[in-house]
Amino acid sequence: MCGIVGYTGRENALPILIKGLYSLEYRGYDSAGVAAFTGQGLRVVKARGRIANLEERLRAEGELRCTCGIGHTRWATHGEPSDRNSHPHLGGKGKVAVVHNGIIENYKELRDRLEAHGYVFQSETDTETVAHLVDYLHTGKQEDLAQTVLAAVQRIRGSYALGVVSMSEPEEIVAARRDNPLIIGLGEGENMIASDITAIIDRTRRYIILDDNEVAVVRPDSVTVMNEFGDVVEKPVQTVTWDMSAAEKGGYQHFMLKEIMEQPKAVGDTVKPRIAKDAVLFEENGLTDERLRDIEHIHIVGCGSALHAGMVGKRVIETMCRIRCTAEVASEFRYENPIIGKKDLCIVISQSGETADTLAAMRLAKQAGAFTVAVVNVVSSTIAREADGILYTWAGPEISVATTKAYSAQLAALYLIAVKIARVRGLISLGDERALCAELQRLPQCIEQTLGCQQDMQRIAALYANRPSVFFLGRGLDYAAALEASLKLKEISYIHSEAYAAGELKHGTISLIEQGTLVVALATQPALFEKTVSNIREVVSRGAVVVLITTDDFTGDTSVCQHIVRLPKCLYEFSASLSIIPMQLLAYYVAVERSCDVDKPRNLAKSVTVE
Ligand code: F6R
Repeated sequence: MCGIVGYTGRENALPILIKGLYSLEYRGYDSAGVAAFTGQGLRVVKARGRIANLEERLRAEGELRCTCGIGHTRWATHGEPSDRNSHPHLGGKGKVAVVHNGIIENYKELRDRLEAHGYVFQSETDTETVAHLVDYLHTGKQEDLAQTVLAAVQRIRGSYALGVVSMSEPEEIVAARRDNPLIIGLGEGENMIASDITAIIDRTRRYIILDDNEVAVVRPDSVTVMNEFGDVVEKPVQTVTWDMSAAEKGGYQHFMLKEIMEQPKAVGDTVKPRIAKDAVLFEENGLTDERLRDIEHIHIVGCGSALHAGMVGKRVIETMCRIRCTAEVASEFRYENPIIGKKDLCIVISQSGETADTLAAMRLAKQAGAFTVAVVNVVSSTIAREADGILYTWAGPEISVATTKAYSAQLAALYLIAVKIARVRGLISLGDERALCAELQRLPQCIEQTLGCQQDMQRIAALYANRPSVFFLGRGLDYAAALEASLKLKEISYIHSEAYAAGELKHGTISLIEQGTLVVALATQPALFEKTVSNIREVVSRGAVVVLITTDDFTGDTSVCQHIVRLPKCLYEFSASLSIIPMQLLAYYVAVERSCDVDKPRNLAKSVTVE
């Protein structure tokens, strides 16, 4: 979702801003723009589409030299993607420029009032109201820009990360945040603002995380952060722990393929530090034995793939721990007045740690008295900082919009939780725990082995890439995995696909099966093998072509299936970690066959910071 970058220092800001924008591309966007101070004043250049369009426009406009400026990649919310609606937006008569992530909920009311004061709006965006509001509050007043922004945000309802520059302070960027991420990169004689680390890591590894309702004054040689009362606050300086190479393609054609291949490491790095002496060890996350013993209900919340990981986790936890566990869509959970008890555990899953609905769901559960534990990939993200306990997935930076390695690491984190709860509640013996830990430690190796199906999946993808729709079937854990498989395919290849609980198809959806329809069936659970095979027969009888994903030891009759992909042996409870691998590869190669923009699928954003 939208990306912000800003630079103030001694070097030419423009190439730095453009580079920063490129590194924010992965968040998803449909237009880009920059505002910079030049000899002639505040210049704004923006263009619909890719950053390359913006660069072309900049070239056409002649050289633009400046040492302070802000840039933005926009993911449209209010108003279509267009040059006009792109950020930055100018306020007043071009004295103020603003970039914004989030949604200003009372923008209509503010717009009406500002129009009544003579302001003329150029765009349909909510952001332009902020630009004019800052100008209105600034004009004719003694207050400096930061105080003005502080006054402006107090009149705003909604969420925002803001970068504001004004002709009155040509070396200064004022940044503000509420419910949208924003960091400040600290350099030598230069400082930056950015939506995330990828935009600053090229110049500095030191940064400050802005908290809700804070406003920062960023100049080349100083950064001052104030709280909502205008009091200066001391902020801890963080250091980026990962290397730039982690956010580069490393010879792969796409980030997605690189990240698929990195899954053994992501899972290994998530599991290994949590197993000591053949037992699951949670030291840092507040999941004490006492707390785990007392849990009455587990709510798992997340969105998209994180929710799908939660759906797998629900099944594994209920099987191993016999505790009622629900996996819930965060955007529904937050508004349906959920029943949350003081002894409930709320597991919040998010790669980015910034997803607006997931964050809100977590805050709700916390307020209701549940203990919240976040399974998060991005270190120090908002969800990670606000949760009662944190279980990081150590997948490293994930750049491709479609998640793969973070999803696999989420599954691993949930297995760890399941084993720990089962042991604490006396449902498994010490020996069982030892065996389960050994299986968890073996998982990276099993994933590595599963990745061996790469060429087969490429071949299968080439055969079926032109299908108008695909169905994924499974029961139990395989159904949860089928949901993720289907999401992967549709989001990057734009082929319509649906995941169905295998036994449910005949209650309506089977009418869509016709000669040549591609059905991918997942059957990894011995207790359900025969049932799923019966469902496969039902679709084959109606003309479907079936790809079967099953285990190495399945000996049933598979003669009706066109293609069979066999997974190495692993504990059946952990099989979703293996069955998803061929599915990710299938989605990837189908998207490549169809010449889709694999890493940046249309309309999608990596970090969904609006609800
Ligand atoms: C799909 C995908 C999304 C995310 C969802 C939640 O490949 O990546 O469905 O899983 O937007 O994002 P996070 O995990 O950042 O909360």
